Amino acid sequence: MFNILNKMNITKTIKETKEIIKRAKSKGLSTGFVPTMGALHKGHLELIRKAKNENDFVSCSIFVNPIQFNNKEDLKKYPRPIEDDIKKLEELACDLVFIPSVEEMYPEPDTTIYNFGNLEKVMEGKHRPGHFNGVAVVVKKLFDIVEPGRSYFGEKDFQQLAIIKALVKKLKMPVEIVPCPTIREKDGLAMSSRNRRLTADEREIAPVIYMALKDVSKLASGKNVKEVKDYYFQQLGKYPQMKIEYFEISNIEDLSPVEKFEKEKKSIACTAVFLGKVRLIDNVIINL
Ligand code: PAJ
Repeated sequence: MFNILNKMNITKTIKETKEIIKRAKSKGLSTGFVPTMGALHKGHLELIRKAKNENDFVSCSIFVNPIQFNNKEDLKKYPRPIEDDIKKLEELACDLVFIPSVEEMYPEPDTTIYNFGNLEKVMEGKHRPGHFNGVAVVVKKLFDIVEPGRSYFGEKDFQQLAIIKALVKKLKMPVEIVPCPTIREKDGLAMSSRNRRLTADEREIAPVIYMALKDVSKLASGKNVKEVKDYYFQQLGKYPQMKIEYFEISNIEDLSPVEKFEKEKKSIACTAVFLGKVRLIDNVIINL
């Protein structure tokens, strides 16, 4: 229950989570929420930190959501260092962590189908069928439980952020979605729970993805979309361990493909790359 000793509340059921949130709200506290799948790294922790700065009461959820995985192996191998995660959240004085079981979240299969139009048809949506529907279903459920005033999402998953904004708009949910910049390792690799599955050799070359993306952003001022795309494929092509699943230059608003760089229409370069067996995604906003 609500913890007056300032210890973090750790909940497993929807009922107890709702009760604690209700008590926080009844005291007039503003509420921030950071949904995660755990294996927390500095990228996640920045979201929590920002939420702590901007809200009186901050909750985090840790739930490896099976229905957003279209690859069984990825789901099975997803890291679950729960004790470490709890420690990290305690250190940041997170107020509540909700760690439900699959049965708690899905007592029966959820058959909701959302339609996000073009947003779900490109990039991640195209290559991971059902992924964003699974994300939308779980985030909607989590929002219904936590009822946050603000919820924090990383720009590393730029398309996910766009989907969540669309979900909230579609359902008129009273939550403010707060985008947070991508947090990177010193060498530029975007932090990800999946990075720990890279071999030492793969880890060494992984920063090439961001290096090439940064070049793309610079080159966009003088070259056309095709030239920039060719450049990216050439750079990553130097490493046989890397297989580009997609590289797209997209309109930042609706993620539709961009054929021509234009000053008035901001674009974003997004990519997914298999490095060995690990799938990495990253993006950079193109500033002309
Ligand atoms: P997960 O991959 O654990 O990410 C949780 C949140 O952390 C997401 O908003 C993600 O964009 C953000 N994040 C991850 N790496 C980041 C980085 N390097 N810099 C900044 N933010 C970063 O995304 C999910 O979980 C799930 O799809 C979820 C939304 C929880 C639904 O299941």
